[in-house]
Amino acid sequence: MSARPRGLVVAIDGPSGAGKSTVGRALAKRLGYVFLDTGAMYRALALRALRTGTALDDAAGLAALAHDVRIGIEDEGRRILLDGEDVSADLRTREVSAAASRVSVHPPVRREMVRRQQDMGALGGVVLDGRDIGTAVFPDADVKFYVDADPARRALRRHAELVAAGAPADLAAIEREIRERDHADSTRADSPLTRAAGAIAIDTTAHTPEEVVERMLAVVRSAESRR
Ligand code: DC
Repeated sequence: MSARPRGLVVAIDGPSGAGKSTVGRALAKRLGYVFLDTGAMYRALALRALRTGTALDDAAGLAALAHDVRIGIEDEGRRILLDGEDVSADLRTREVSAAASRVSVHPPVRREMVRRQQDMGALGGVVLDGRDIGTAVFPDADVKFYVDADPARRALRRHAELVAAGAPADLAAIEREIRERDHADSTRADSPLTRAAGAIAIDTTAHTPEEVVERMLAVVRSAESRR
């Protein structure tokens, strides 16, 4: 019996707003795989920290929170439950985005999150989206993608998401914050965002999600057929 009886492990890494979760969710659906948005886990922890008044530089306090917190992922990653409460809408605010980037720098926090992600993906048949999937969570992933897009385009997408959610949105501020988060996520000491060896680079600036998904699907199907 294969070590991954449910299928392959597909890793999608890249900066925020590149379209990873849109294409990852659609790809998982086409494959009949589970989709795991690992950024939502860091966001849920960040929300918990903000609500409990835990300082974002308190590594020990955040690690304790990370151990205790229950994070449920439902409806193909669209619904996130924090200790049983549906917090999906609260996770997309600019405040939580910035806080998630800050909580994710702490090694004990990352260890706990990575352990959970490895448990959830161990049987295979899973598409994971994040920053360190192909480098730290599943360095032995069967297929690795590195998805990127022009920062201005990424800011436009985040802006549209916030407007659609009825949240206040200032495009210039969003672009500035995206660049700041890119810098923080790519320069942190523990598992910085970087293209994993062997990852297939996909630039989504000039492509629709459907085009990107078709391309990814072809790669995964070919890997499946070689199993
Ligand atoms: O993908 P996202 O924007 O929802 O991620 C929120 C933050 O979480 C991001 O700034 C970096 C962090 N993150 C991480 O460090 N590792 C992951 N696997 C996923 C997200």
